[in-house]
Amino acid sequence: MGCFTVEGGHRLEGSLTVQGSKNGALPLLAASVLVNGTTCLRHCPDLTDIRAALLILDGFGCKTSFRDNVAVIDSAAADRYSIADETMREMRSSIVFLGALLGRFGHAEVSAPGGCEIGLRPIDLHIESLKAMGCVFEEEGSRLHCSCPNGLKGATIALSFPSVGATENLLLAASVAKGKTRVINAAREPEIVELADFLNRCGARISGAGEGILEIEGVASLTGCEETVAGDRIAAVTYMTSCAVTGGRLAVRGLDFNSLMPLVAPFEKAGCQIERSGDAINFAAPKRLKGFGMVRTMPYPGFPTDSQAAFTAMLAASDGTSLVVENIFESRFKYIAQLNKMGADIRVEGRIAVIQGVERLHGADVVSPDLRGGSALVTAALGAQGVSRVSAVHYIDRGYEKLEGVLASLGAVIERKT
Ligand code: UD1
Repeated sequence: MGCFTVEGGHRLEGSLTVQGSKNGALPLLAASVLVNGTTCLRHCPDLTDIRAALLILDGFGCKTSFRDNVAVIDSAAADRYSIADETMREMRSSIVFLGALLGRFGHAEVSAPGGCEIGLRPIDLHIESLKAMGCVFEEEGSRLHCSCPNGLKGATIALSFPSVGATENLLLAASVAKGKTRVINAAREPEIVELADFLNRCGARISGAGEGILEIEGVASLTGCEETVAGDRIAAVTYMTSCAVTGGRLAVRGLDFNSLMPLVAPFEKAGCQIERSGDAINFAAPKRLKGFGMVRTMPYPGFPTDSQAAFTAMLAASDGTSLVVENIFESRFKYIAQLNKMGADIRVEGRIAVIQGVERLHGADVVSPDLRGGSALVTAALGAQGVSRVSAVHYIDRGYEKLEGVLASLGAVIERKT
């Protein structure tokens, strides 16, 4: 397992064009199996999760290539619809292939989910809503056999929670179902809007994406097209918070400013400036960060759970107290024990983390517990006094393309050791 050594205390300054979004690219890769012909994704981030998704597509019999951030998928010859247990354990988000497989083949074989690093990831919402569209699910050990004996048919589905993955599966399946599907309380994340726009350009008839109620008029077939994957809002926040702990400045390009809206007020309360300027988002940190009161993670347009750890790491060394309430996933505070090893004063009570800002963190040997927790430890290490060693970086590699290279280009002293 590799690690990063980070020498803290170097001010970060400069500009970057943010990588393509992992969470945006994954459902687009799933969509490629649903469409006829070739899908071409530009600005596709080179991440272990993306490579795993391409292997899943290879497993279906798709022809795939991936070079220089361009993924090309030809699904014409696809003739299999099963995802191996092991693959699903490695990447839980592979459940997003379910809707596409059912749309394409009327069959899918996946694994029943279990826990993962950030908590349980049940798929009851995916299953219940696909059942409403005529799908039948049979469990055999850990395997889930899914089929639509009479084809997929449109339905009205009210999600009890605006699950991102369930909404994506519904968009994929309903695009080629017979008749009209309405999804009430659909997720509104920017990645949902991107998937709907892509499917519409492939010939789907989806309206309401980003507004909470989706209407999807099923069509007979879709035709592949090109897409430039949107910039990764979560990675951008990681670079901003990393800059913030060093009192630095940053210009971020390649990102829709609107996708950062839920974070503008919390950043400002911490004393940071964040504003749009032409094609860039300018970010500047104060000499000393301030505690920002309370944030609660919520579905979009609320504060994103994926940026919760980055903010906590940013505020570990600040003036005052901050409260972070995690409402989306139950085990997303594992990194906090590691931050406390670096001298942070953070108490976790259930879903609430109470951050008592300290003067400064110090370097330590810490272990990434998961993707966003891991990148938050790197952020903390950049602001700490002395050298830190952040191990288990394979988690971080799932979501950040050359994290150490990007940070080094801004002035960080960071090295990958294998
Ligand atoms: C996606 C993102 C992830 C992000 C999350 C919330 C991808 C690849 N991953 O994950 O980075 O943190 O959205 O913004 O895009 N739930 C159920 N039953 C279900 C489905 C979900 O109870 O059938 C629960 C989950 O356990 C979790 C919550 O709903 O507590 C949110 O899950 P969901 O919105 O589905 O997140 P993902 O799509 O898994």
